Amino acid sequence: MPHPKRKILVTSALPYANGAIHIGHLVEYIQTDIWVRYQRLCGHQVVYVCGDDAHGTPIMLRARKEGLSPEDFIGRMNLEHQRDFARFDIAFDSYYSTHSTENQALCVHIYEILRKNGHIVTRDVEQFFDPMEQIFLPDRFIRGTCPNCKAPDQYGDSCEICGKHYQPTDLINPRSAVSGAIPVRKTSRHFFLRLEHFRQQLQNLLQTRFVDESVANKLREWFTTELKDWDISRDAPFFGFAIPDEADKYFYNWLDAPIGYLASLAHYLAAPAEDAIQFWQNDDLEVHHFIGKDIVYFHALFWPAMLFGAGLRPPTKLAVHGHLTVNAEKMSKSRGTFISALQYARYLDPQWLRYYFATRLTTAPSDLDLSFEDFTARVNSELVGKLANLISRAAPMLNRLLNGETGVPVVDALPLLEQLRQAKPEIAQAFEERNFAGATRQICSLADKANKFVEDNAPWVLVKTDAQAARGVLTAALEAGRILTIYLKAIVPQFARSVEQCLNIAPLEWQHIEDSMPAHKINAFVHLATRVDDKAVQSLIQENMMSEPTAVTPPSVIPPTPSTATSSSSNPSPAGPGSVEPLAPTCTIEQFAAVDLRVARVISAEDLPGSDKLLKLQLDAGALGHRVVLAGIKKAIALDQLPGRLVIFCANLAPRKMKLGTSEGMVLASGPGGTEVFLLSVDSRATPGQRVH
Ligand code: MSP
Ligand code: ZN
Repeated sequence: MPHPKRKILVTSALPYANGAIHIGHLVEYIQTDIWVRYQRLCGHQVVYVCGDDAHGTPIMLRARKEGLSPEDFIGRMNLEHQRDFARFDIAFDSYYSTHSTENQALCVHIYEILRKNGHIVTRDVEQFFDPMEQIFLPDRFIRGTCPNCKAPDQYGDSCEICGKHYQPTDLINPRSAVSGAIPVRKTSRHFFLRLEHFRQQLQNLLQTRFVDESVANKLREWFTTELKDWDISRDAPFFGFAIPDEADKYFYNWLDAPIGYLASLAHYLAAPAEDAIQFWQNDDLEVHHFIGKDIVYFHALFWPAMLFGAGLRPPTKLAVHGHLTVNAEKMSKSRGTFISALQYARYLDPQWLRYYFATRLTTAPSDLDLSFEDFTARVNSELVGKLANLISRAAPMLNRLLNGETGVPVVDALPLLEQLRQAKPEIAQAFEERNFAGATRQICSLADKANKFVEDNAPWVLVKTDAQAARGVLTAALEAGRILTIYLKAIVPQFARSVEQCLNIAPLEWQHIEDSMPAHKINAFVHLATRVDDKAVQSLIQENMMSEPTAVTPPSVIPPTPSTATSSSSNPSPAGPGSVEPLAPTCTIEQFAAVDLRVARVISAEDLPGSDKLLKLQLDAGALGHRVVLAGIKKAIALDQLPGRLVIFCANLAPRKMKLGTSEGMVLASGPGGTEVFLLSVDSRATPGQRVH
């Protein structure tokens, strides 16, 4: 029976435009992306939107510090964020910005209805004002001595030492964190949303599946006292949208941020704001917001209140996750564990992080830890040792011994394959509930059984006496690998792509679990997953301890590596100056254009003791997957200089078998050779897999 298709709008929280995406953020975007991919794999219609949260005082000040207009600054951040997400295979249908005409139209529209219906009031508020900068100071921009425990240098809203929450005006000896000036109190008129008007609707919402029970209990506490009016305005100077009919008043950025989900939807629809509202109001549409536990208040109170007040439907579900710690502590710059997405991807494979986070994510909004020891152990033993292993052994064996032709699985394998297929509903439920830890646990235990089956039936021995039986065992192993790949596809899409290519099958979908592969010829083996090299992890942390992460990375070029152009002048060829090497036969432009040059990142470099020239490089070529390339650069470059580096390589060179292994491409370098070989590098913003023009 075909199951009914669901229509789902999914969002991840809009990251602030004043900083780089870091691995803490990635918990959320990877979690959401896995859920979205899983739903799509099942055939449901999903629209996944996000964008930058581009307004507010911190962004305004940050831009000023960088010497940029806020518009230029957020424009650059937006591109950087998109680049980072793409590296981790986070595939939004629309990545937009709260600073957009659609968002402004939607904000004004919603605000006008709230005002007309009497949900907005104004009141005078006394606030700290920086007399030097001439700005009102957000709580986080005021520092002083804690009124409770007297700890010096605390934030304006709460004390990090004793945990007390207070008003900034309670601070002893307050200072502006922007200018250091003594702030003065200044009164201005603010706009408020009357939350109490929505008490009943908000409480009713908690009776639905809006949040999981563990979160709902916490939320119910809010309703034991009066819901305070919510301050939705800020005074000039401010980077945001002006409130209509007011001079120098702006919408608070938390008002326009969730409306930004709708604006990003409008951008996806390539339609005016009203169309986004119409889409949103569709009775069949489910709306799922993925958020961190720190912003539940905004999504469970303010946002639904705005929607109710504007006569719009509330979201279906808040999917709340906990916070990331690294090696059991808060991410810290001094310990080298405040790691940006960019820095991570310089040294380690994004697929590993997707896999690892999946093993740590459950339905509960509890914090999760990235222990690098555990990360290395798990990726190596599970993703590489169990999941990739199955196909990595069976496929080359079938190619080598049996002409790469699959047949019918041996009868003995049928109970195993049946068990793999029967796990479907349970694994499906785990995905649906965001219990990816449960899903990966089950997938790994099935992989154990499949590996054991191959081990027990030793097709490499069997082939000597009964080729058909050996083919049946290997066919069963590949069938098992195929089913496991469907289960894994949402988590590690590049791994799945490589399996599809290797098995020579169409893109896998959830409904293909029941199918069996017909007898056919598979392709040459494609590398599936590389082991984590502990040295690469150490280099990442080391580099990170030395460098201060910056919000906007200036265009950077990898250290001084002379490129082709300089070699003739500064590196005279061994033949001596003046003597010219004979030219190779001319090649046509078509022949030259047939050389497919791509960017790749060196994941690891390994010494090949049998050679005085060659190193074995593992390359991450983005969507092209991983490649092993043997490069004659041993004399010129120290091993530890290579991991993380971007290189240019020829991706369509026919694989070449050498004494020490097969090389799947060629890395471009220049220079006379020996100790003078210079790898061609590219700008650090390039993405692996990208074509070099
Ligand atoms: N701009 C707001 C969200 C507006 S949504 C209408 C914001 N931005 S943020 O950049 O601070 O965070 C974006 C998301 O990343 C949030 O859901 C937040 O919980 C999540 N995370 C940020 N740091 C995190 C960790 N260290 N760990 C897990 N998630 C974290 O909030
Ligand atoms: Zn204190």
